[in-house]
Amino acid sequence: NTTTRPRISFLGCGYLGATYAICFAELGYEVIGYDVDTAKIDSFASGTVPFHEPGLPELLKKNLESGRLRFTTDVQSVADFADVHFICVGTPQRKGEPGADLSYIEASVVDLSKHLSRKVLIVGKSTVPVGTASWVQELVDRHAPQGLGVEVGWSPEFLQESNAMHDVLRPNRIVYAAQSEWASQLLKDVHRGILELAAVEDREVPVVETDLATAELVKVAANAFLSTKISFINAMADLCEVTGGDVADLAKAIGYDQRIGNKFLRAGIGFGGGCLPKDIRALSARAGELGVGESFRFLDEVDAVNTRRRSHAVRSVANLVGRTPGPNGPDLSGVRIAYLGATFKPDTDDIRDSPALDIARRLRSARADVVVYDPEGLENAKAHAPELSFVKTLAEAVAGADVVCAMVPWEEFRTLDPEALGQQVAERRILDGMNAFDPERWRGHGWTYQGI
Ligand code: UGA
Repeated sequence: NTTTRPRISFLGCGYLGATYAICFAELGYEVIGYDVDTAKIDSFASGTVPFHEPGLPELLKKNLESGRLRFTTDVQSVADFADVHFICVGTPQRKGEPGADLSYIEASVVDLSKHLSRKVLIVGKSTVPVGTASWVQELVDRHAPQGLGVEVGWSPEFLQESNAMHDVLRPNRIVYAAQSEWASQLLKDVHRGILELAAVEDREVPVVETDLATAELVKVAANAFLSTKISFINAMADLCEVTGGDVADLAKAIGYDQRIGNKFLRAGIGFGGGCLPKDIRALSARAGELGVGESFRFLDEVDAVNTRRRSHAVRSVANLVGRTPGPNGPDLSGVRIAYLGATFKPDTDDIRDSPALDIARRLRSARADVVVYDPEGLENAKAHAPELSFVKTLAEAVAGADVVCAMVPWEEFRTLDPEALGQQVAERRILDGMNAFDPERWRGHGWTYQGI
């Protein structure tokens, strides 16, 4: 029944599109996932998720078997099949510039439009600069056959990698924008499955229906706010460090105030990933284009605080091994580092803009002998930073190390035992970039401990 269960396509089968396609099939919708990358489509179609995301492989297999989920590289079959098309392609940072590259959006929208033969709704999900939805509508008007009346809507997403399935099936809010009653009804029907699941589980999911510009802005506003929280607490960490304060206690104490909240106040090596860093830069750049750049200068500072975490981490390692930095930074030659963590956060194999990997490279540039281990990110990290040494086990990484850098809070690292580890290293020195260990316990086992 297309009035209550529209048929849905997801254009772009990266993290976003693939997770949505699989989860919407799970919710009972007939779904098709589309991508120009044949290898990716073949992988999904044969039941293999080409990236690490807990729980997703099982859900993919289940829904391929249900017959509700298909994957294709044939845009004509996508155009024929779906009533609602979600645009989920990447919007990376432009090379050497802060703004977003919209070429994948343009290519997918133009290609789809040319193949349409009836009125459908095209809904943007990718993170974009405000104003993109109107431009997408213009593209559709120019390239879809005349007279179809194809409309554009917008519905931002808020999924976090490593928690992606949960965030799609059980979001904390639904936001969308439609330009007509028809489109509004269609978007209601598209999201009905999520609301039904919530009702069964006795939860409420608030729905915010708004205009196109607001829907676009909600996404970047949320990511900018989250980034600001992290840089704020990292700035406080600097202050704690020079005063002997404890930033973890400080975060806990301010977090009990519900107006502040206790989430995204973990101080550490700063934020990374494919979203937060590029989104704050794109927002600041767009605000500048629109004449309100001054109001967003603080975001450049949020970015700068974040980047300084990385040089700070290098200095911390230098301090641990007693090498005072010269004018060109510290010389760490002869220092063997067991480097634990390469991904931008735990439970993912994603290394995009990973603070941990960047710090590893900086340590290598300071001539340290850096041996990296990561539970899931080794392959991606190796391709991105071939100058580093990688090993397949934690034991190989720590054997004979002069200093251990524990940088990404994977379960395997958070549960390290100071005594057992101490017997494998050459020197008991640790930089706890995760801020996860109890300093007194480690010091009690003879470690020189440096946290954040
Ligand atoms: C982020 C947002 O959290 C999602 O809501 C959003 O949908 C997504 O971007 C996106 O735009 O698609 P994600 O990039 O998966 O999600 O990662 P987060 O879990 O937000 O972590 C981002 C970075 O912040 C990581 O490097 C993490 O280690 C760091 N972080 C996070 C901190 O340093 N401190 C914290 O307290 C929390």
